[in-house]
Amino acid sequence: MKKLTITTILKRKNESPIVMITAYDALFARLFQESADILLVGDSLNMSFGGNPDTLSASMDQMIYHTNAVCKGAPNTFVLCDMPFGTYCDEKTALLNALRVYQETPADAIKIEGGAEKAYLIKHLVSNGIAVCGHIGLLPQSVRAEGGYKVKGKSEEEALSLIADAQAIENAGAFIIVIEGVKAEVASRVAQSVSIPLIGIGAGNGVDGQVLVFSDMLGLYEPFVPKFVKQYMDGATAVKNAVAEYANEVKTKVFPDENFIY
Ligand code: KIV
Repeated sequence: MKKLTITTILKRKNESPIVMITAYDALFARLFQESADILLVGDSLNMSFGGNPDTLSASMDQMIYHTNAVCKGAPNTFVLCDMPFGTYCDEKTALLNALRVYQETPADAIKIEGGAEKAYLIKHLVSNGIAVCGHIGLLPQSVRAEGGYKVKGKSEEEALSLIADAQAIENAGAFIIVIEGVKAEVASRVAQSVSIPLIGIGAGNGVDGQVLVFSDMLGLYEPFVPKFVKQYMDGATAVKNAVAEYANEVKTKVFPDENFIY
């Protein structure tokens, strides 16, 4: 598949849905590159790979390590690096950390969470040569401040606020926006209100593409399965069965037989 650019991503609006999936390492990135348009090195890795209860303790060093691994596994795929919590709280901090992504990895763009209140940061980053993806709606980095993961767009006021968020982010210069955990009909209105692609996660089908966390959609992450996640395989059972079979064969000395020795 030909690597997308910002120009070709923008052209996909109202043309063909964009396929985004998270990736955290070279192993899986290599497997995903044939089908995915964009690989997102999401700070969700702090939960599924890091074993933490939320994304808040992810660090810049961690994101840079994983982004480099993903870029090595899928060198011809557009890669987005998520900016972790606390790394873009003012213009100077945001720029220093975003510059680290560009200087220490081959990532194509960065993603930051937040609505209209973050537009000034996006403008600052874009004016300094950084390509930015916005992220509106349910914001995982606000889980402690909001006391849980809250679906958005449940009232007309929230719908108008989401439209204002998306427009502010577009006007600030972002080239794409992720919208998470939003009522489907509202997400569809938000998509129609901007001219950049809106990528949904738990936001229905009226948007310009979808993103899923890979460990969720492969059925590998057992602690919690959000309602919007379709599991395309039962990865946890497949892995557990394979390891149980291996353990049994080691204990019974069936493995290694003559096919697996020098
Ligand atoms: O961190 C992540 O994986 C994300 C997705 C939920 C969009 O931001």
